[in-house]
Amino acid sequence: MMVGLDAFFFFFVWLLFWTPSAFANTEKVIFSVPDTPSSALENVINGSNLDPIGQLSPAGSPEKLLLRIELPREFPTESAPRGVDSWVLLKDLKPGARYEARVCWAATTPSDFWLSVHSSLDSSGPSSDLYLKISAIASYYTINATLMENPEPVLVDIILDEFLLGVLPRSLLNVGLFIVVVAGVAWYAGFHLIHWLDGITRTGLKDKVA
Ligand SMILES: *[C@@H]1O[C@H](CO)[C@@H](O)[C@H](O)[C@H]1NC(C)=O
Ligand SMILES: *[C@@H]1O[C@H](CO)[C@@H](O)[C@H](O)[C@H]1NC(C)=O
Repeated sequence: MMVGLDAFFFFFVWLLFWTPSAFANTEKVIFSVPDTPSSALENVINGSNLDPIGQLSPAGSPEKLLLRIELPREFPTESAPRGVDSWVLLKDLKPGARYEARVCWAATTPSDFWLSVHSSLDSSGPSSDLYLKISAIASYYTINATLMENPEPVLVDIILDEFLLGVLPRSLLNVGLFIVVVAGVAWYAGFHLIHWLDGITRTGLKDKVA
């Protein structure tokens, strides 16, 4: 009977392991907001030259943590191995806090993304505004010449997530609790089911012997 219980247990561990990857393809970058302007991020850019496609802000009312948008992409070339750059303004971040920015896209639009976060030269005062750079290339092959020449934009969700206590992404908290509760209930139910089946088998055997 222990074999049955072990199998059950491993099945749920396996489920836990795979659940985060069930949503979509994801690329992410984790960063800390500089406390002071002098400790700006390494890659400083001149923000006044940029034309952001949108902005995300954890502090606004209502807060904006999700941006669903179509990003331009190209096939990589020698001069632009990472395709097209798009910029998102990350506004009113908490100085010193840790965040994760994620890009999620459907597996039906094969693409590769590179994410990086930059401080801006033109920001005065604490650098609580940062820029997220998303570089996008198309990564498919098709016999359709139009699509090989001009890849269509890719629909993505851009998500800004604060780490609670510096370790747990806020948006995963509910999902995490849900998985733990479901796994716990299922394990408990499975345990009793197996005991019940065990009981029936034993009774059956006894009847046979008798
Ligand atoms: C940033 O770019 C703008 C526009 O090109 C320019 O006027 C400004 O001087 C630049 N800032 C710095 C600090 O280089
Ligand atoms: C190629 O793809 C484009 C865009 O999806 C479509 O409009 C066009 O009909 C396709 N051409 C061929 C030959 O399938």
